[in-house]
Amino acid sequence: MTTKQNPPREPAAEEARLRAALTPQINHRLRSARIVAGRAVVVAEAGDLSAEARDALEAEIRTALQTVAGIGEVRVALTGERRRTRLIAVGSGKGGVGKSTLTTNLAVALAKMGRKVGVIDGDIYGPSQPKLLGTEGQKPKVEDDKLVPLQSAFGVKVLSMGHIVAPGKALAWRGPMTGKALSQLIDAVWDDTDILLIDLPPGTGDVQLSMLSAHRPDGAVLVSTPQDLALIDAARAGQLFDQGNVPIIGLVENMAGYCCPECGHISDPFGSGGVEKFAAALEIPFLGRVPLTLETRLSGDAGTPPAAGESEAAAPFVAIAERLARWLDTGSVQG
Ligand SMILES: Nc1ncnc2c1ncn2[C@@H]1O[C@H](COP(=O)(O)OP(=O)(O)OP(=O)(O)O)[C@@H](O)[C@H]1O
Ligand SMILES: [Mg+2]
Repeated sequence: MTTKQNPPREPAAEEARLRAALTPQINHRLRSARIVAGRAVVVAEAGDLSAEARDALEAEIRTALQTVAGIGEVRVALTGERRRTRLIAVGSGKGGVGKSTLTTNLAVALAKMGRKVGVIDGDIYGPSQPKLLGTEGQKPKVEDDKLVPLQSAFGVKVLSMGHIVAPGKALAWRGPMTGKALSQLIDAVWDDTDILLIDLPPGTGDVQLSMLSAHRPDGAVLVSTPQDLALIDAARAGQLFDQGNVPIIGLVENMAGYCCPECGHISDPFGSGGVEKFAAALEIPFLGRVPLTLETRLSGDAGTPPAAGESEAAAPFVAIAERLARWLDTGSVQG
């Protein structure tokens, strides 16, 4: 019951305030969090939990939310639904800007943060993920007509058409077949995977359209290099997601600032900072900048993602993964 004395409600700000008091694991289960007449009303998914674990979850939510200023009472409703796997698309308009590299390294960084992560290689014609995650030549098993994702050495599960069809064979496929192929990868046995990153092919073609109609992602990360041409294409990809009602989580600038391994001089072959300005103009969050490094290129080819190690090349991916995790937990990339 709302009374006249209550200030005007701001549901998004209220939800963010409540979510901020909860751990990422609990946030992942939240369906909704509202403040109604000084009471926190929370709905969380607990279909996969035992009776004791449900009680523990409820108690943890209660204890955490009682500390939030202005909350007199906490009401918790647990649903029988299982935790949902969140789908995040990684796209760009232009080819070769680093979508696949970013997807792999974000996935590895998120896994190191304790998230359960899977990667789907949506590039049916030119798969990259078998190489990037070091699973080339492996074949997924099939259980009850569903593919079982492969386990990479980096705590990230992965599925790609490159694991299923011989190189070059998918080239003859046309629109509906590519949609079906993507569905098979998405409807695989992802089990308790929390976050599925989809590495999209360049452009705004069949795979993107079938994904938007059949498997609308929860959000999209856009990647661009700093040149104008790449930015124009990124804007086009952004429009596609907007039209499909997919929230754009933010833009990443890749390949800005080359640090010469010989002399340490930093040059900007593609310019630098263009993506951040562009993001600001479009009012899209800027997620971070990944410099052009020889290590990133070489470790991509070797199937040992930099984010799995502790080198300087890992740091930008970790920072972007942290922003992505924040978005997943709170709906905002800002801390
Ligand atoms: N920050 C970086 N530093 C050095 N090399 C990079 C970086 N990002 C990507 N690369 C290299 O650039 C090439 C293209 O990257 P990648 O395959 O990730 O791009 P893509 O956008 O997925 O391409 P496509 O559109 O063909 O799918 C690869 O050789 C990769 O190793
Ligand atoms: Mg790619």
